Amino acid sequence: MFAKRTQEVEPFLAMEVMERGMAMAREGTSIVQLGVGEPNFDAPPAAVQAAIDSLRSGETHYTDSRGLFNLREAIANECEARRGVAVDPDQIVVTSGTSPAILLCLNLLVDPGDEVVLATPHYPCYPNMIAVCGGTPVLVPTGPEDGFVMDVAKVRAAITPRTRAIFLASPANPTGAVQPREVVEELSSLGIPILSDEIYDGLTYDDAEVTSPLGFTEDTYVLDGFSKRYAMTGFRLGYLIAPKKAMRSLQSLMQSFFISTSQFVQQAGFAALAEGADHVEHMRREYAIRRRILLDGLRGMGLSIPIDPPGAFYVLVDMRHFGRDSLTLCFDILERARVALGPGRDFGEVAEGFVRFSFATARPEIEEALRRLERAFPEL
Ligand SMILES: Cc1ncc(COP(=O)(O)O)c(C=O)c1O
Repeated sequence: MFAKRTQEVEPFLAMEVMERGMAMAREGTSIVQLGVGEPNFDAPPAAVQAAIDSLRSGETHYTDSRGLFNLREAIANECEARRGVAVDPDQIVVTSGTSPAILLCLNLLVDPGDEVVLATPHYPCYPNMIAVCGGTPVLVPTGPEDGFVMDVAKVRAAITPRTRAIFLASPANPTGAVQPREVVEELSSLGIPILSDEIYDGLTYDDAEVTSPLGFTEDTYVLDGFSKRYAMTGFRLGYLIAPKKAMRSLQSLMQSFFISTSQFVQQAGFAALAEGADHVEHMRREYAIRRRILLDGLRGMGLSIPIDPPGAFYVLVDMRHFGRDSLTLCFDILERARVALGPGRDFGEVAEGFVRFSFATARPEIEEALRRLERAFPEL
């Protein structure tokens, strides 16, 4: 028997579609993968070089559990530059990706039976991680009609004496929604810790502006990392910016769970912050072009797209008129069009019937996917 809490962890359906696509590719079928959020770009060259140099010079040991001081200092400086809020390097814990940062925070805040409020459609790992901490995810629906902006009245109504945190994801996965400043400010005033996932900050289009709750409440836990903005998914590098009062406990959790983050990976992060800005801007511009190609191409086929995503690299498309559940539809599309997509069901019941397209994939592949879909849609 396995622990009950692990049975509450749902499979990631986009991965299942991707894996079936990979199996088809091994048998010789050409598959275009637009299902997962994996930037096709190389990491910033300076980050790769720093990792090599670090390994060569023998930096293959544990570090301070909170991370190298030079990296935490650089993260603090970048936080001030990007968010306009000064933080102390001692408020930062460097982690192996944003995912462990989320897990640390939830372990810090959530006791069995506690509740965490989050907007849905949502990133699938949030409820899974809340559940393994014994907590209950409380989903607050957001909809295409209001641009997937959180309704603060609904958030207030969802709060109970057991609410321990509110998740804020802006820009969000899978909608690309960016929460307006007023919403962030109001959520910050509710007296409940805010877990602010800012992993897609910096990847915005049409002059969208991201607001961090860090400027409004000290009870903010910023979850961030290098995977998306710097195209460094495989490095596994992220961090947490937390209130000073939480640091001792977070440090103990970090020591017990992970000991520390790889030293050479931390050096790569330091180099990315120091020298990666041009690379990030180059990628953002390319995403903006791909986003336009994808939006125009899909709308040209008569598909309904509720919002032009202001951020991240996903387009959530309403495909309810195909008359089947999103997983079946994605498998049918994979068979007929040989394009792997993300079933909306991953992101909560409200996203059932929707399908997520990623434009983190290279432009020629997006164009090829559009051609294949156009040919296959009449049969679907
Ligand atoms: C909203 C969101 N948060 C966190 C993560 C996890 O990122 P990392 O690779 O840094 O663990 C992802 C990855 O897709 C994501 O979409």
